[in-house]
Amino acid sequence: MDRLRSSYLGFSLATPLVASAGPLTGKLDTLKALEDHGASAVVLPSVFEEQLRHDEAFKDHFLQANSDALSEAHSFFPDPDLYQLQADEALTRVQNASEALDIPVIASLNGATEEGWKGFAAELESAGADALELNLYQISADPTLSGRQIEERHIDTVRDVSSSVRIPVAVKVGHTYTAFAHLAGRFEEAGAAALVMFNRFYQPDFEINSRTISRTLGLSSSREALLPLTWIAILRGQRNLDLAATSGVHQPDDVVKLIMAGADAVCTTSSLLKNGPQHLHTLTQGLLEWMDRHEYEQIEDLRGCMRREYTENPELFERANYIKLLQTGQWD
Ligand SMILES: Cc1cc2nc3c(=O)[nH]c(=O)nc-3n(C[C@H](O)[C@H](O)[C@H](O)COP(=O)(O)O)c2cc1C
Repeated sequence: MDRLRSSYLGFSLATPLVASAGPLTGKLDTLKALEDHGASAVVLPSVFEEQLRHDEAFKDHFLQANSDALSEAHSFFPDPDLYQLQADEALTRVQNASEALDIPVIASLNGATEEGWKGFAAELESAGADALELNLYQISADPTLSGRQIEERHIDTVRDVSSSVRIPVAVKVGHTYTAFAHLAGRFEEAGAAALVMFNRFYQPDFEINSRTISRTLGLSSSREALLPLTWIAILRGQRNLDLAATSGVHQPDDVVKLIMAGADAVCTTSSLLKNGPQHLHTLTQGLLEWMDRHEYEQIEDLRGCMRREYTENPELFERANYIKLLQTGQWD
């Protein structure tokens, strides 16, 4: 299996395939099944600062913000019971997973305050996490905050956490930043060891008859892999931090493409929910078979072969592609 060996966050992984955060990484039996079927690392479901803190001032600010909202908008906010997760319980989950598994266990944190990010990161490390993934999921709806201010806040978070823990820190980001290539460099300077691209943003739907919010978390499709594919191909060669792809990895071909773009790790959640942990085996075998057919002995020979570094000016390349696509009318 050494043909697929990949380095991610300082770990030497048997394959690039990582089980990203989701329901299957939340329980010990499914975590074991993921390991048994070939996950080379797992990312546990995110712990949210809202779940871990129980002090009144924090609750007033973050959890009761809906008290004077329009009645129709009440369903925007989840039931407060959802936030009930004792800090001990979250840390025990990390501890149990790291004791039960031989592969790296990556804990995911989504903080709300500076002290929360730093404090809980350190606690997750103490509980036995091998690495941290910072889930920077944010819908920036505050009209008084500029893009620059939000970016600075995210960079400060990465810097604060990276300097508070000894384990490697990956940053899972959305794709809606204006100058992502620049920001990637800032994350790297702030101490991030890897970028995980990209967080999927969920859009709640309206139930128009009951005037409530309906939340359906649709699974991804392979097309969504094209977004991380584009950005990994652009960033590979520009930056030294590790690059992980998340979104739309369903078929062996998706894995092949992302490795060609330059991914160090290829993560999947939807395909495992759909097909079960054994799908990891299908992805691994499919990757090996593709390499055999195309006479690649090692994954390293494949990694990054389609990166944009080989095009003189990635920005012009993307523009030219856009023009060509619109003009040739390839819509299917
Ligand atoms: C049911 C479900 C739960 C998820 N929970 C988390 C989570 O706790 N933290 C996180 O960062 N991402 C979470 N994700 C996002 C996945 O980790 C992943 O990044 C995303 O689904 C895109 O990958 P995919 O196309 O393989 O599903 C979740 C996704 C699903 C479908």
